[in-house]
Amino acid sequence: MMEQDMQEILFTPEALARRVKELADQITQDYAGKSPLIVGTLRGSFVFMADLVRQINLPLTVDFLSASSYGSGTESSGQVKLKLDLADDISGRDVLIIEDIVDSGNTLSKLLPELQKRGPASLKVCALLDKPERRVLPFQANYVGFTIPDAFVVGYGLDFDQHYRQLPYIGVLKPSVYE
Ligand code: IMP
Repeated sequence: MMEQDMQEILFTPEALARRVKELADQITQDYAGKSPLIVGTLRGSFVFMADLVRQINLPLTVDFLSASSYGSGTESSGQVKLKLDLADDISGRDVLIIEDIVDSGNTLSKLLPELQKRGPASLKVCALLDKPERRVLPFQANYVGFTIPDAFVVGYGLDFDQHYRQLPYIGVLKPSVYE
């Protein structure tokens, strides 16, 4: 269940590496003189985050959280639950959330106000992918790797039913795989 399951490769490992380096350079510049806390959202962001932090030239620390959104009837009433909370106290920290993909916007538009209550010095989001056509709640990440059309993508950390996360590229799954 690998390359033959792909309808199309959207981003090759080389294209991903190039864009990750650009994002890391921008972050290094924007956070100059600071020591940001880089927060990965599990599980989808683990590959992106691992590549990104190794290109950021700042004294950073890392932490992780896991959030899941539960819709109660409609998507707009979806609640976000922290399945795994941060280990570190974020008060006074420059927090940068690393997300794999912003889709409906539910997760981040609910999670951010919760984290804001903990008094970070700053709170920003870096998303590798953005699917703006799918937005239900308004949300705009501060850093975006690539804007993509409405298609289900896997690889480079992103899954379908927990599979494909280890692919070194990002591809669109053949509909026959999930139909
Ligand atoms: P949302 O923005 O709250 O709808 O949710 C974003 C989360 O949904 C992401 O962190 C992913 O885990 C998951 N997700 C959304 N679109 C895709 C996709 O195309 N492939 C894999 N996971 C996706």
